[in-house]
Amino acid sequence: MSELNNIALKILEKGKGILAADESTGTMTTRLEGVNVPSTPQNRLLFREILFSSSSMRECIGGVILYDETIKQESSKKNKIPELISEMGSAPGIKVDIGAKVLAGSPDEKITEGLDGLRDRLKEYFQLGAKFTKWRGVYNITKNYPSQLSIQSNAHALARYSALVQECNMVPIVEPEVLMEGEHSAKECFEKTSEVIKKCFDELILHKVDLKGIILKPNMILSGNKSKEKISGEEVAKLTLKCLKNSVPTEVPGIAFLSGGQSELEATENLNLINKHNDTNFVMSYSYGRALQQSALKFWSKNTQNIVGTQKVFNHRARMNTLAAQGRWSKDFES
Ligand code: 13P
Repeated sequence: MSELNNIALKILEKGKGILAADESTGTMTTRLEGVNVPSTPQNRLLFREILFSSSSMRECIGGVILYDETIKQESSKKNKIPELISEMGSAPGIKVDIGAKVLAGSPDEKITEGLDGLRDRLKEYFQLGAKFTKWRGVYNITKNYPSQLSIQSNAHALARYSALVQECNMVPIVEPEVLMEGEHSAKECFEKTSEVIKKCFDELILHKVDLKGIILKPNMILSGNKSKEKISGEEVAKLTLKCLKNSVPTEVPGIAFLSGGQSELEATENLNLINKHNDTNFVMSYSYGRALQQSALKFWSKNTQNIVGTQKVFNHRARMNTLAAQGRWSKDFES
């Protein structure tokens, strides 16, 4: 088995998932100011260090995605953040794209940038201890979108990124996110997501990426957040599995979903149902940002010195999702 395949499988072993703590400074500022905490480098680190030193890191969190600022920061005990994460038995990872920008030729859509100079940045992150990386492409659904231009150009960027990351001996997380925003139906989400993922794999294969050494991070199949249609969790699971079975090559070892604006409970419940019905060989776990952090952040903001209390809230969410990643979660465990 290849080294990259081992890393990917270890990150997602035994119901473990990924903590996405790679919010850019802009996004983190929105999150912190949303709970009335000033967004300083110290506060951003303080909250994140509380999560990274929680006990659930050992049983539940196989990998943590960091942002450039965090991977270079030191913990309160003066060790580097990637060292802290490794000591907790988890793998440090790093977001390497520099964000989604207006797509020339289709200005209502986005193209993710960050390929220029990427090879050198990857070498630096590898030296800092990163074992895996993340790059996110975004697609919006309307009557005319995502366009072929957006589907092709984002797939191309994801593939060039992945090839560079594997060359540097790290596992690329390939994240094509079809956004939940909009009035579209789940059927439209299913169709567009299938097309987007298939195109990504065409490009990954063209760029000679070893599919055994990647993790796919897709959205679940949901109806748009402004749609009148409401579908059940069972339906979400059925459509999500159907989409992935049809569009993901069997060599891919693991799939880790993003939460994408679902509530914490929805993200857990849907992941649980996906795993209950999982008739594929893919490990299906989580790579959540908001759905792992929301309650912990809210709790922490009320008293930023209450480390133990904040960790308790985070540990609960991590444990619930790790049960869901094995199809063993029940609503009764929430109370
Ligand atoms: P959410 O789970 O909040 O969607 O974040 C995951 C992520 O990493 C988005 O790139």
